[in-house]
Amino acid sequence: MARKNKRIGIFDSGFGGLHVTRYITQALPDYEYVYLGDTARAPYGDRPQETIYEYTKQAVDFLFAKNCGIVIIACNTASSDALRTIQQEYGAKKKVLGVLIPAAEEAVERTKNRRVGVIATTGTVASEKFVRELEKLDPSVRVFQNACPLLVPLVEAGRQNSPEADALLKRYLAPLLRNRIDTLILGCTHYGILERKIRKIIGPDIVIVSEARVVPRKLKQYLKKHAEIEETLRRKPGAHLYSTDRTDNFRTLGSKFFGRPIRVEKATL
Ligand code: DGL
Repeated sequence: MARKNKRIGIFDSGFGGLHVTRYITQALPDYEYVYLGDTARAPYGDRPQETIYEYTKQAVDFLFAKNCGIVIIACNTASSDALRTIQQEYGAKKKVLGVLIPAAEEAVERTKNRRVGVIATTGTVASEKFVRELEKLDPSVRVFQNACPLLVPLVEAGRQNSPEADALLKRYLAPLLRNRIDTLILGCTHYGILERKIRKIIGPDIVIVSEARVVPRKLKQYLKKHAEIEETLRRKPGAHLYSTDRTDNFRTLGSKFFGRPIRVEKATL
């Protein structure tokens, strides 16, 4: 019998990943979670690939050292630039999952005209990971990406409800709308918080693929299929949150993403 003492680890460059964590913990409330936000070094979005890999590896090691039986990289930029190499290095022993493939699978299932849009950070767009994953799943799909470098700083400054946010979103979404996409992937942790505004701009007919909805569902399915992991997980509801930077800032902004007040501890990587 496996000892049920493992936790589920979730990593993001900052506190944006608390949005998907909120929905993961709602969908799978019985487990114990450890969340790490590398706020001291965020944003990752414009950093070179080697740096993102280094940082992500340190973060994933931190989570395994905290007795996690599985780690989810909630950050799209880290999923794009570091996940594959980390998975190869760790092999089957230490299970690390990302957020891109679940989102890509959902988009391919939902699109009717085979024209899928992706908005994400500069790093994620440059990696072309979404394009490759979508085309692997269905070679007939055409992918239209747009990098939105100003959205993360805007959300982090708490200006997601400003007229500036509307103007930026209109500008970033216009080329995708011109390309007649019928499905849009929100390929960044921070964009879920802008979903209502995005919906207003793109109208009611385009499917929005939100990782906050897709990832909890896919994780549930994954754990059902992988009893060898699920059986090691401790049933002890709760989430321990860590940040690599000032915890007061993380607490204030993170509470918005998590949907309720949070307590956070300082982590050193
Ligand atoms: N977490 C990042 C992502 O999902 C956004 C913030 C950053 O650039 O670090 O791509």
